[in-house]
Amino acid sequence: MLSSTSGHDSLESAGAAGPVLRFENVHLAFDGLAVLRGVSFIARRGETKVLLGEAASGKTLLLKLALGLQRPDSGAVWVLGQPVSDLPESRLFALRRHIGMVFQESALFDSLSVRENVAYRLREEHELTEDTIEQRVRRALSFVELEEAIDKMPGELSGGMKRRVAIARALSSEPEVMLYDSPTGGLDPITSTTIMELIIKLRDENNVTSLLVTHRLQDAYLLATHVWDTQNRRLRAAAPERSHTSFLLLREGKVWFDGDGHQLMNSGDDYVKTFME
Ligand SMILES: Nc1ncnc2c1ncn2[C@@H]1O[C@H](COP(=O)(O)OP(=O)(O)O)[C@@H](O)[C@H]1O
Ligand SMILES: [Mg+2]
Repeated sequence: MLSSTSGHDSLESAGAAGPVLRFENVHLAFDGLAVLRGVSFIARRGETKVLLGEAASGKTLLLKLALGLQRPDSGAVWVLGQPVSDLPESRLFALRRHIGMVFQESALFDSLSVRENVAYRLREEHELTEDTIEQRVRRALSFVELEEAIDKMPGELSGGMKRRVAIARALSSEPEVMLYDSPTGGLDPITSTTIMELIIKLRDENNVTSLLVTHRLQDAYLLATHVWDTQNRRLRAAAPERSHTSFLLLREGKVWFDGDGHQLMNSGDDYVKTFME
């Protein structure tokens, strides 16, 4: 069971026992206009939940709620056993160290080198030594296969490389939870696939729990039908039931569909079918 806990150690154990992410009957309106009207779902450790829905259906809001950047009008959001929707700002700050974020814009600091961009979040933690920071930065860059770019400036990188640096930055604190908002937005199809490959590697090798917003059905399909083959260092086709990926489709503020890739692709629901075309 999830419970309200304080302190670093209990945070980890609470996350291991129950779902890593839990939304419970979340309602949220702006200026009297209801955007979320009772959204409930969970994501278990190692699971990627793909958030689908038309523009303005509330996908980005779900990510902001998970970060505690937005509070629900009613209902609750739990991350790693912590009641995000009720935590004071000081406790949210500590919790966010366990959460990595990747947004479409990459949002790198143009005046900082790749090394300093990736180190940015680690420096906020203050207590780490330079050696530890350098080690973590290199580990994160090596995960995205960009160690050789460590001394480059963002202006020298391609769009795909920037996105990989953004992923490395999110990984620097070795988060248990990742939130991706259109991580392949604005990239060409081949580069998009390399980004999705990293996301799948994180899911399967590191057991990271994620929420991922995407407009590209190809991304959703790849997540549902492939796993990371650790031995051969590449993607391998797998049944949707084995890919640790589920799908949530928002419609009119409610969860219209929540299930795995097989259920999604075989759904008889007209709205789901139209959405998947
Ligand atoms: N801070 C805010 N103030 C007012 N309206 C907001 C705010 N954040 C989101 N909204 C509205 O909520 C709806 C859902 O937004 P969003 O989650 O960004 O949609 P999307 O599914 O496209 O990511 C939109 O209509 C948006 O205008
Ligand atoms: Mg959005």
